Amino acid sequence: MEAQVLHMNAGEGEASYANNSQVQKLVIAKAKPIVAESIVNLCSTTLPQCLRVADLGCSSGPNSLIVISDIIDTVEKTCRRLNRSAPEFQIFLNDLPGNDFNTIFKFLPAFYERLKKEKGEEFGPCFVFGLPGSFYERLFPSDTMDFIHSSYSLHWLSQVPQGLEDNKGNVYVSKTSPSSVYKAYLKQFQRDFSKFLSTRSKEVRTGGHMVITIAGRRSKEPYSEDSIPWELLALSLNDLVSQGVIEEKKLDSFNMNIYHPCTEEVEAIIKAEGSFNLDKLDTYEVVWEAIHNGENKELMLKESRSSKIIAMAIRAVTEPLLVHHFGEAINIDKLFQRYEEHASEFLSKEKGCNFNIVISMKKK
Ligand SMILES: C[S@@+](CC[C@H](N)C(=O)[O-])C[C@H]1O[C@@H](n2cnc3c(N)ncnc32)[C@H](O)[C@@H]1O
Repeated sequence: MEAQVLHMNAGEGEASYANNSQVQKLVIAKAKPIVAESIVNLCSTTLPQCLRVADLGCSSGPNSLIVISDIIDTVEKTCRRLNRSAPEFQIFLNDLPGNDFNTIFKFLPAFYERLKKEKGEEFGPCFVFGLPGSFYERLFPSDTMDFIHSSYSLHWLSQVPQGLEDNKGNVYVSKTSPSSVYKAYLKQFQRDFSKFLSTRSKEVRTGGHMVITIAGRRSKEPYSEDSIPWELLALSLNDLVSQGVIEEKKLDSFNMNIYHPCTEEVEAIIKAEGSFNLDKLDTYEVVWEAIHNGENKELMLKESRSSKIIAMAIRAVTEPLLVHHFGEAINIDKLFQRYEEHASEFLSKEKGCNFNIVISMKKK
């Protein structure tokens, strides 16, 4: 079910993912050195004539092509340094079938133009393909892929875990959730991430690389502050229940198909599955305020309220799921007004912060 419903808000409007993915953009910028290191290692071995690269869970908006540009730049620079000619590129942008691929395709002519201008007519060529499908299933022919990248997508589960009947009033693992809820989420993540690794291991050639960034959990405890964006969503939904806008039983049957693993959980699954060597695992935080306090100039926004930024970011990734579950009656504007108010109250006491896990792996 989730695979048919899940997609980020389409287009380029005010509530679109394209316009509300600055946190994810900062996450990509922070992971860039690890992606670059992996590409440099890959290029230092024998390169095929055509390098096959995929970005899994590319969504739609500027971030989709930023990752690809960075990868191409690093390959080009490394080949130049090694005095080799750069390969051709076959690039796959993957997401679920409901993703707004058309918005990415519209940016492609300008992307190709820029490549030609910056790198010359002889460079590449580079061919970009849209690839609809779930990354929990096979996406590519056997032994064909050289480099797989995925940012902020693998914490999305293939489905809402079974056994969450006792998570009433919550939408994810919260402070008040019984331990069965955490166990159900962990079990689903173990199943999904393991399937992801074994599926990719058939497609990535021996010696091929994979770099993945996941929104994770900073402690081994089932509950950490990484649940806060989902607690703010639960608070806002509960407000709508109190106001009679949505039914309580509808809220009780709604849970996010997301899981934020801790590093130990991720490492254990990679080890148990066994197809990839874990070259590097790094963690870093992205403070919501970093977006407009100048940590990354490119990302400074006109919008000065972190509460608004986080409310719009959560809306962009959850609106289709919420509307599907609660129906149009949910009044999404009202819901995210409440979200902004709860976020503002939270941020007046504590700082909002995403904890990220980057994993760099090599196919055995
Ligand atoms: C938060 S967005 C991240 C997008 C982009 N990588 C970025 O960093 O801005 C997560 C994306 O993962 C996609 N996704 C979730 N589950 C997926 C699956 N099973 N297969 C392919 N894509 C999936 C979602 O549709 C969504 O576009």
